[in-house]
Amino acid sequence: MSYPAEALALVREWLPDNDDPDRPQITLSTVTADGGADARTVLMSEFDEDGFYFHTDAHSRKAADIAANPLVAITVLWPGFTRQLVIRGAAEPAAPREVAAAYEKRSPYLQQLAWQNSVEFAQLPIDERRRAWASFTEAHPDGFRQPANWAGYLVRPFRLTFWTSNPDTASHRVEYVRDGEAWSVQHLAG
Ligand SMILES: Cc1cc2nc3c(=O)[nH]c(=O)nc-3n(C[C@H](O)[C@H](O)[C@H](O)COP(=O)(O)O)c2cc1C
Repeated sequence: MSYPAEALALVREWLPDNDDPDRPQITLSTVTADGGADARTVLMSEFDEDGFYFHTDAHSRKAADIAANPLVAITVLWPGFTRQLVIRGAAEPAAPREVAAAYEKRSPYLQQLAWQNSVEFAQLPIDERRRAWASFTEAHPDGFRQPANWAGYLVRPFRLTFWTSNPDTASHRVEYVRDGEAWSVQHLAG
């Protein structure tokens, strides 16, 4: 089920186009196995009428969190205290075609990072990490194909909260909430 067209119009107005290489940096919050919270920054790869996509390592903590509990929150902050979008939703594996397309769109650096961003690599001394990085680049002059550990998620929202500041009056939130098959909209204090 898509979220309301009115909310999608706001998302389109607020976020950069999916083709813009400058991707939004978002805070992705997950629920941990012990019932706590965790959060980290990731790039929002794209959005559509179904939801919001991000990509990560299949062996990461966030992937384990989501496998056990798909409920997540995404926070997008605009510079200068101007806007904030908070999305609550459920994450699910993105379609293989979307996952492949997102890998193709990543910069060569980020494509290589998807190969070498392992615990074993992280534990090497910095000089060895530099050498291993350079020799991996040299060994792949034609670029990098998608690694098996490259994973993508679609977050289907059930709540979207658009916060705006206003220098002349109070900050304000407009919120779209899913209730079964219907959506409601409400205005909240900022
Ligand atoms: C600006 C920025 C962008 C990042 N983008 C991503 C990303 O798109 N995917 C990703 O897996 N990690 C990204 N990271 C790294 C994550 O913040 C995090 O350190 C890593 O994914 C491991 O998180 P986890 O152990 O909670 O799973 C980014 C970090 C920063 C600071």
